[in-house]
Amino acid sequence: MRLRRVRSSSWSRRLVAEHRLGVEDLIWPLFVMEGENRRVPVASMPGVERLSIDNIVIAAEQAAELGIPAVALFPNTEAKLRSEDAREAFNPENLVCRATRAIKAAGLNVGVILDVALDPYTNHGHDGLIRNGEIVNDDTIEALVRQSMVQAEAGADILAPSDMMDGRIGAIRSALEDGGHFNTLVMAYAAKYASAFYGPFRDAVGSAVTLASSAEKRDKRSYQMDPANTDEALREVALDLAEGADLIMVKPGMPYLDIVRRVSETFRVPTFAYQVSGEYAMLQAAAQAGWLDSDAVMMESLLAFKRAGASGILTYFAPRAAAALKNEA
Ligand code: PBG
Repeated sequence: MRLRRVRSSSWSRRLVAEHRLGVEDLIWPLFVMEGENRRVPVASMPGVERLSIDNIVIAAEQAAELGIPAVALFPNTEAKLRSEDAREAFNPENLVCRATRAIKAAGLNVGVILDVALDPYTNHGHDGLIRNGEIVNDDTIEALVRQSMVQAEAGADILAPSDMMDGRIGAIRSALEDGGHFNTLVMAYAAKYASAFYGPFRDAVGSAVTLASSAEKRDKRSYQMDPANTDEALREVALDLAEGADLIMVKPGMPYLDIVRRVSETFRVPTFAYQVSGEYAMLQAAAQAGWLDSDAVMMESLLAFKRAGASGILTYFAPRAAAALKNEA
C-alpha cells in the first residue's frame, strides 16, 4: 500500500480531503468604540482595530458580502462609564446596543452576537460583581439577566454569556422566554478557561488597566476553569445544555482542541471554538517577524478546529480567511 498515491496531485488531494473550512464556519469578533469615523489599531493585535459605530456597520456589510454568517461585538467602554455595579451594562444606549441597532437598521443578513459579562463595564475589570473581595455568583446573575434583556431588546440575535457564573444560562433563558424573546439564541461560553491567552483582548476592551488596578488583579481563576481539567468541561457543557443553551463554546481554541473534540463527540450539539486574541497575536507576531507564512498558518490553524469537530470558529482572521477562501474558489 502506498498512501502517497492520493497525495500526488492537487485534484486527488481535494477528492479525499476529510475536512474543509468554509466561510460559513466563521464568526468575526469586532471591537466597538465611541465616536465617529474612527479606527484605532489595537497594538497587541496587528491588523485589528477598534471601530466607531459607523465603521462597525461597514464591517458588518463587508461580512455580509464575504458570506460571514455572524459578527460578535465587544465594547471599549469609556472609563467614566465603568463602575462598581456595572450599570452601563443595562443602559439601552450603551455602545453594543447602539451598534446592534445600527447593523439591524442597515438590513444586513448577518447575525449579531453580544457577550454577556460585566468586565467591559466594571471599574475592576472582573466579569462579576465583587462583595468583600469575592466575585459573587447570584447577584451577578441578576445583573447578567438585566444586561441580557437590554441586549435582546436592542436586537441581538445571539447572547453569549462569557462570565462563567453558575446557573446563568437557565436564568437568562427564563427571562428571555418571559420577555417574549423566544427566538433569541444563547451561545454559552460553557468551557471557558482561566487563560493567559486573553491578554490582548483585555487591551482592546480596556479591561487590562482596570484589572491590573483591582485588588483581585488579573486572576479570574475563581470563576473561569482550571486549564488542568477536562472532565469538568463536560460537566459545564452538560449543565449549560440542561439550562437551555442552543450553542456551546470552548475557549481558548488551539491549546484546547482536545476539549473541542471531547465536547463535540460527547454531546453532538453545535460546538464553537474561540481562537482568542493571544492566539491571533502570536501567529501575527511570528508572521511579522518573517518567521511564519501568515496566510498559510491562518488557514491551517482554522482547519484544525474543523478537524477537532468544531461547527464554527470565532476568529479575528475571519475577513482575511473569508477572502482567501473566495480566491481559492
Ligand atoms: C470577557 C471576555 C474575554 C474574552 C471574551 N469575552 C476576556 C476575559 O474573560 O478576560 C476573550 C477573547 C479573546 O481573548 O479574544 N468576558
